[in-house]
Amino acid sequence: MHILHLASSPRGDRSASLKLAARYLETLTSLHADATVDVLDVWTTDLLPFDGAALEAKYADLQGVQMNAEQQAVWEQIHTLGERFHRADVIVFSVPMWNFGVPYRLKHLIDAVSQRGVLFDFDAQGMRGLLKGKKVVVFATRGVALGEDFPTEDYDHQVAYLKTWARMVGVPAIDAVVSEATLADATTAETNFNAALAQASKLAADLT
Ligand SMILES: Cc1cc2nc3c(=O)[nH]c(=O)nc-3n(C[C@H](O)[C@H](O)[C@H](O)COP(=O)(O)O)c2cc1C
Repeated sequence: MHILHLASSPRGDRSASLKLAARYLETLTSLHADATVDVLDVWTTDLLPFDGAALEAKYADLQGVQMNAEQQAVWEQIHTLGERFHRADVIVFSVPMWNFGVPYRLKHLIDAVSQRGVLFDFDAQGMRGLLKGKKVVVFATRGVALGEDFPTEDYDHQVAYLKTWARMVGVPAIDAVVSEATLADATTAETNFNAALAQASKLAADLT
């Protein structure tokens, strides 16, 4: 079993989302001796700029136009990045909510790697994801609780966004563990977080 962990909190040891993913990965690796983990931390990875040659390469591909050498080189880099997704059986996101969405470096990674011929195909017949059969698991944290003041359907651009991305790349359903109200009073925050930790262990134990 090979796991790709896309880590998107810059808070290191203080990060709640990283702690949830760590619990899941520790449980999984203790149960599956053969499991390997590739960590892609969006804050320490030199993400390729997605403008200039990369953007031109994307449109050249979509329009069937020959790429120049610079565009081809950057397109190859994108394919190499995509291979890390293809190698994985399980794709894990650890993701704090930022302004009701995801941290911009994670969005940058997703915009760079989600290309035709890399993670999906797109033609006259429509769009087909190329990551079919993989599992996507999301460990999400939020300072507040969505619900009354922040209706989920309007405010969740975090888990809902990753769900949509997963569908786009061929994974129709995801597992999500959410720890809300991390910035609330200590008792509430801790109760929610401990429940999320237990869910993380269970998800790992249930994975066959
Ligand atoms: C730039 C920034 C924006 C944030 N925006 C939101 C937000 O829109 N909604 C929310 O509930 N929490 C928000 N938070 C709080 C974080 O989601 C919360 O502290 C979370 O537990 C952080 O997870 P981490 O410890 O894994 O980084 C924000 C935090 C930062 C740093």
